[in-house]
Amino acid sequence: MGDLHVIDHPLIQHKLTLMRRKETSTKNFRQLLDEISTLMAYEVLRDFPIHEVEIETPLERATGTAIDGKKVVFVSILRAGTGILDGMLKVVPVARVGHIGLYRQPKTLVAVEYYFKMPEDLAERDIVVVDPMLATGNTAIAAIDRIKEFEPKSIKFACLLTCPEGIDAMNRAHPDVPLYTAAVDRELDEHGYIRPGLGDAGDRIFGTK
Ligand code: URA
Repeated sequence: MGDLHVIDHPLIQHKLTLMRRKETSTKNFRQLLDEISTLMAYEVLRDFPIHEVEIETPLERATGTAIDGKKVVFVSILRAGTGILDGMLKVVPVARVGHIGLYRQPKTLVAVEYYFKMPEDLAERDIVVVDPMLATGNTAIAAIDRIKEFEPKSIKFACLLTCPEGIDAMNRAHPDVPLYTAAVDRELDEHGYIRPGLGDAGDRIFGTK
């Protein structure tokens, strides 16, 4: 069973409730997702390995802290992952970014890959895969299957919302991948939507229908 981290900070829960409201505008939805993602980045990166560094302050020598290893990679699952990516990049502006394009076949909900572009040296890097909604889990599982071909140092998955069905599917396919989410909703409906949820995240981020 993979680690499940539900980040139930009051600021995040307040903003998530605003995002769920159907009357929330595209502009506000996008901004709230951006803010929540920045807040979530603190928890997602909390256990990143660090080492001591010797520095000089204007007054004396001191010991500081630096993050180990090569730069972290955020992998955005297109297109809705972009909404989380921007918020996380605010606190890790040096991160590398990968993109994976997967769409859900509407009838079968199976994930089909149409785009894949990653930074070099994935084997030496820590990866955080981002997508706002972990629903059936098919898309996230397919993305992580693909990334694992490069044998990265570590992989985490961060989403805004999930449901018991999505967590079970991820745990079966990738029990070694820790899962970070702002909430676990009641259920997945027969159309692959999370209930009560917030609707189609991609449409709400980009104002499409
Ligand atoms: N993807 C979404 O955007 N919303 C859901 O509820 C499920 C999957």
